[in-house]
Amino acid sequence: MRISVIGCGYLGAVHAACMAKLGHEVVGIDVDGQKVLELSAARAPFYEPGLDELLREVQETGRLSFTTEMSAAAGSQVQFICVGTPQKKGENGADMTYVDAAISALLPHLAPGVVVVGKSTVPVGTAARLAELVEHQEPTAHAVWNPEFLREGHAVSDTLRPDRLVYGVTDGSEDHPAVAILDEVYAESLAAGTQRLVTDHPTAELVKAAANSFLATKISFINAMAEVCEASGADVTRLADAIGMDDRIGRKFLNAGIGFGGGCLPKDIRAFMARAGELGADQALTFLREVDAINMRRRTRVVEITRELCGGSLLGKRITVLGAAFKPESDDVRDSPALSIAAQLQLQGAIVTVSDPKALANAVRRFPELQYEPDLEKAVRRADALLLLTEWQLYRDLDPFELAGLVASPRILDGRNVLEAPKWRAAGWTYRGMGRP
Ligand code: UDX
Repeated sequence: MRISVIGCGYLGAVHAACMAKLGHEVVGIDVDGQKVLELSAARAPFYEPGLDELLREVQETGRLSFTTEMSAAAGSQVQFICVGTPQKKGENGADMTYVDAAISALLPHLAPGVVVVGKSTVPVGTAARLAELVEHQEPTAHAVWNPEFLREGHAVSDTLRPDRLVYGVTDGSEDHPAVAILDEVYAESLAAGTQRLVTDHPTAELVKAAANSFLATKISFINAMAEVCEASGADVTRLADAIGMDDRIGRKFLNAGIGFGGGCLPKDIRAFMARAGELGADQALTFLREVDAINMRRRTRVVEITRELCGGSLLGKRITVLGAAFKPESDDVRDSPALSIAAQLQLQGAIVTVSDPKALANAVRRFPELQYEPDLEKAVRRADALLLLTEWQLYRDLDPFELAGLVASPRILDGRNVLEAPKWRAAGWTYRGMGRP
């Protein structure tokens, strides 16, 4: 099939490459000329495992190209909208500028029978509004909402083998003509057994908001338990292991630590609350305010524990922060708890050095006032305390015995609860976890 993918960021670039891998002829369209140049040269403009290789592989087939020209969308049977919906400045709601701009640029190029497929995370009600615009321009065209559930760091495999496909169509019916077209797009995943659900527009939009809210709630739940564990001397990691054995609860997403960040969970729960308020259903989501508050409290808690670790004062203390990305296997620093903690420590008088295997270039842009050191050995040398804030394998594998000889004082705060505390203590370290004695 001929497919266009509008917006080539974390979502769109991966989606375009994966659609080409599935055998489709794909054009990726983005307003950012630099991004288009890089993607055209088969280079991912951000770090995502496997994406560079995939881009090279599919570009050799001639099935994938990139451009800044929206007119390239003409002739595609399916147009995916993959642009960002960041948080509005100074408000909780989603900024719909990019979605609206993409749709208005696309409208003049719509041919009869095409399917416009929204993948961006949007406030419920958007699909119906866009469907009206699409059908007004081209009465035989369809607008479908097909939310994306990919995780950064696993984006390629999540896109090629999603755990479910949700199609939101105007009448919510399996017989809607767009359903067969999308089934053709995703034929390979469907043949491999991926579950597929057809819903109406608002349900499809809400599936995404609800899924991210659930995940955020699960993380904040365990972080709330971490607070109680800290107050009572219990160990939240053992608690999570034990409750996670109940398969109604499950162990996944029960890792207490410094809380969630990234370009999705924080802004999505806020946009969801804002939208519920507009719909008069704000009471239903007031719990998300608490989820957000618990999450933000973790960052303050890390600063407090670091102060305790450093003997009561941060002034002039050399702190090395291991990890800048919001999670491992990503160079994304959007709302990264690690960087936000590094900045708070610096504001309180510490001399902070941040290291990360992939995210330093992005981190420098966001927090130019912090000091960065890509070389791990140099970064930790003469540190008064180490803070492990993003659990890259490289940091999980650190040898506490070797490291003890490099730092000024062997003190570590394991912000992700991934290190073996007894081993670190045996090597002479003062070890602190999050929600652990
Ligand atoms: C999330 C959703 O998982 C994905 O389905 C959606 O499409 C986009 O948003 P992503 O932002 O890539 O994906 O990251 P995710 O793996 O969900 O992690 C989010 C944050 O939660 C990270 O900062 C991570 O470190 C943190 N986290 C995750 C925890 O603190 N504890 C956990 O147990 C799990």
